[in-house]
This record gives sequence, C-alpha cells and structure tokens, in this order.
Amino acid sequence: MTTKILPPRLGSYNVAEEWMEGETFNWERVHPVFTWYESGKVNMSYECVDRHVDEGKGDKIALHYFSENEEETYTYEELQREVNRWSNVLKDHGVTKGDFVFVFLPKHPHCHIAMLAAIKIGAVVGPLFEAFMEEAVKDRINDCEGEFLITNSKFLDRVNRPEIPSLKTVFTTDLEASGSDISITKEAKEADDQAETVWVDLDDGLNIHYTSGSTGKPKGIIHAHRNMIQQYQTGRWVLDLKEDDVYWCTAHPGWVTGTVYGVFAPLLNGVTTVIHGSRFSADSWYQVLEQAQVSVWYSAPTAFRMLMANGDKTLEKYDLSSLRHVLSVGEPLNPEVIYWGEKALDLRIHDTWWMTETGAQLVANLPTRTIKPGSMGRPIPGIEVTVLDEEGDELPAGETGHLAIKSSWPSLMKEVWKNEEKFKSYFPYGEKWYIAGDLAYLDEEGYVFFQGRSDDMINSSGERIGPFEVESKLIEHEAVKEVGVIGKPDPVRGEIVKAFIALNEGYEESAELLEEIRLFVRSGLAAHAAPKEIEVVDELPKTQISGKVLRRELKKRDKAG
Ligand code: WT7
Repeated sequence: MTTKILPPRLGSYNVAEEWMEGETFNWERVHPVFTWYESGKVNMSYECVDRHVDEGKGDKIALHYFSENEEETYTYEELQREVNRWSNVLKDHGVTKGDFVFVFLPKHPHCHIAMLAAIKIGAVVGPLFEAFMEEAVKDRINDCEGEFLITNSKFLDRVNRPEIPSLKTVFTTDLEASGSDISITKEAKEADDQAETVWVDLDDGLNIHYTSGSTGKPKGIIHAHRNMIQQYQTGRWVLDLKEDDVYWCTAHPGWVTGTVYGVFAPLLNGVTTVIHGSRFSADSWYQVLEQAQVSVWYSAPTAFRMLMANGDKTLEKYDLSSLRHVLSVGEPLNPEVIYWGEKALDLRIHDTWWMTETGAQLVANLPTRTIKPGSMGRPIPGIEVTVLDEEGDELPAGETGHLAIKSSWPSLMKEVWKNEEKFKSYFPYGEKWYIAGDLAYLDEEGYVFFQGRSDDMINSSGERIGPFEVESKLIEHEAVKEVGVIGKPDPVRGEIVKAFIALNEGYEESAELLEEIRLFVRSGLAAHAAPKEIEVVDELPKTQISGKVLRRELKKRDKAG
C-alpha cells in the first residue's frame, strides 16, 4: 500500500494560537495556570475540581455517565460536594497523607469520585483494572502493603483478604456494607460537603499503577502531583480541549490512559467528561458518541479496527457530526485505520505515544501538523527524542534503534516502588536519556516510526501484559510442567497471548484440558491475560547456563509455523 500524507485540516486549534512551530517551549510557561504558582503548595484534586467552582464554572457538567439502563450527570459543583463528602469519610476512617488507597470499581462516576477524594486528602491512589481477578489484585496491593481499598460488593469476590494482610479497611460503594466493611456511599450522605484540601509538594505521590516488563511481577510506578503541568498542557494542545468540549476517553482508570486522560487531563481543562459503563459493541459506542454529542474522542487501534471491521452499515445509523477531533494510543495505528477514519468519520485519527512511566504524552500528531500514516508523530513542544544504538550513540535518520527521550519532563515517574534498580534500568546510558524499551527510527523531519519492543512485553489491544505474570499463573496449574508465553501477531488485537506448555506426566493433551488451563488464567489473573492460543510441546527451548525459557526462540518457531 502506498502511504499518503494527510495535511492538517482547517480549524482553530489551541496549539496554533499559543505556540509557533519551531519555537522553544519551556514547561515553566504553564505554571501560572495553577493556584500553586504562588504558594508552591499543590493538589491535583483541587486543580481538577475546586478551581473551576472558585472560578465561577460550578454549573458546568463535569461528568456525564451512561450505561445500558442508567444516565447521570454531575456539575463541577456537584462533583466538588461529592468529592468533599467522600474525602471526609476517608479521613474519618484514618486515611492520611501518603497512604495508598486502592480503587477497584467499574467505569462509573464513583470511580472518579473515589480517586479525587483520596487525592484531596493527600493519599496516593491505586486504580485497579476492572477485569483483574484475585491474583492480580492481591499481588498489587501486597507489593506496596496497601491498607485501604474502595470497591463494591460485586468486585469483593476477587479480593482475597486472608492473603492481603496489610489491608486494614475496605470501603464499598453499596448502600449496605457487610461485616466490618464501611459503606462509603451511606456515610457520605451524612458527611459534610465542605472539606479541607491537604496541600502537598509538587513532588509528593499522586498515583500508583502497576505495569509489566518482561521479567518479574508487575512494578509499581509512582507519579507525583507535578504531573498536572504536562497533563493539563497535553490536554490543551494534543487533545485540543476547549471550554465547550464533550470528551470521551474509552480506557478504564486501571490503565494509565484512563487515569491521566480519562480523569485528570479533561478535568484540569474544565471540559465535560463522558463515562460509559457498557461493554464494547459498535452500536453502543456509536450511540455514546451520538447521544452525548462527543466532540473529542480518545481511543485505541483495536477499537477502531473493530469498528472498521463492523462495516459502514452500523455507522450510517448514527449522527456523529458533533465529533471534531479523534486520537489513538497504546499500540501501532495502522495506516488502513487512518484511511478508514478519513472516509468513515471524515476526520484524521491522531496517534499519540507515551507509557505508564512517562506520565503523559511525549510524541504525538498535533492537530496542526501533517500526519504521515505509519508514524506516531513528532515529539510535542518541550520534548526531545532520539534513537540510540546498543552503545548509546545517536543513530542517523532512517536507522532503527532504542527510542530515547531527553530527561527530564514534568510527568516522568517519581519512582518505581521500592525498586531503585528498576528505576535506574530506564537510564542505561546515563541520566541524559530515558530508554523506553521501544524500537523505532526517525525520518529526516523527526517523525517517529515505531518498530516493536526491544523486550518480551506483550501488547494485546493496547493492554500491556508481562509474559512472566502469565507464566507464573500457568505453572500453578497441576497439568503444567514448563511454560513460555509470547505475543503472537494478530490482525485485530495487534498481538494475542500465546502459551507454549509442556505437560506433567500423566496428562494427555485434549481440547478440554487446554480450555481448563485457559480458564484457570482467566479466572485467576485477568481475562486479557489468558492465552488465546495454547500449544503443547514436549520441551521448551532454554538457555544452556541458566535454564531460562527462550521466548525469542518460541517467537521464531511460531512464525515458521
Ligand atoms: C507501551 C506502553 C500510556 C499509553 C498506553 C500504553 C506501546 C504506546 C503506542 C503507539 C505503538 C505504542 C509501546 C509503549 N505504545 N503507544 N502510539 N504506537 N505503540 O501504556 O501500558 O505503559 O504501554 O505501549 O510499546 O512502550 P503502557
């Protein structure tokens, strides 16, 4: 296929009005936007909610929630009162600055409120993905010895309390809580709707997300309140959020996209955020866009590919004329999808690149720039990117190597929880360059072309899956002797999880056994981590010295067929 470049479309964009292409940009330019500019003391929750009320925008809709049978809205003032009540309940039950508060809830305003309430009193919030099962929940809370959890009675089945000894207090959003649990919704009804903001330092902890690498269990990436600088600014320039926008980010806050661009960035910019509670289907998604009059939409390539595969017939039933800006993140955006967007939506789809560790977008297609399909775009203002070889030397345009970002930027992670060594591993060539773990090349104009990962990390539907976590679960099954897990290329999901297993003596391969093993991972860890394909082998390829399974070898074999 020949790639055709897409020039910017006419329109008035924030970035065009505020920055000239090529002009150097200093993040300090953003500081006066915030209340802490003078005091030096900061709180993300204040800047997301209270500030808008203080500035007279309390009547504006902050959250617009939909599900199959519910619809609910909160103005900024209503959201403020609710956040205040919840933060008072949390405080009454002993939550203080620096405590970890995990939030395990579906896509619902309660999830936003819980997060903002915990942050308001200085706690570090740990959103957990709604599809996590027992093991995934346990590993994460145990790793940082979390004491507080906000969840609901449905999700509680997946919280194995005896195995999470640090857990002191469980809040549920049901109006009746059982045992020693606390109904946060019930107590909030009685609580004061005024609350003190706990002012913290720019570098104090804000949120923790567990993320996978190729080895070991997921690591806790901790971000700080200073992130708001870049999250506000990318919301303004990359998402092009303007006062009257209705914005929808399809990710759950358990993934960093859902937290940063589903909760913080839109609220920092004072727009209306759509929250959609139903599962994906082309009809329900188009319906949300139409019914909520979404103007800016941030989603992922797998979702666009599914809509594309669903065909024009469904699309034709809906009026999507409110839509003006569409963005994508998380996995490679195929040129075909961009061409589909041009035809079907009559809009460009703007790819963006970042990672859990980077805290905000770093490379993007700004609305004012030409899009080269196949490229993720160029570094945003204030960010410098290069490609390094194995020795850490810069490579010329066209040559593939390690994608590197010049440090530092406002939203770079603060730390990897209790793992200084892991933090340092992102800087193998010294402090100057952060190494993403992605392989890429730049063209003459500085456009970045993603070429894959340099490690074994799996990316399925934009969800980052560590093979080790899946292997650890698989090996717990009594029939499994040895295991190696890889990402296998897939036309819709980018990659699927594929497991190679050797069986213990006494077990025979059968469709039932493989299904049982798959369900074992699905119900123990998470649906997205369960292998879609399992292949039984006599033996797995291993390194001679350490006996480690060679995933690379498995990948090669898989390709060869
Ligand atoms: C990895 C980070 C925070 C964004 C959501 C994923 C891959 C991310 C793109 C893109 C190709 C992408 C990279 C990256 N990735 N965006 N536009 N094109 N690949 O965050 O779970 O921390 O994963 O996702 O491999 O390293 P994450």
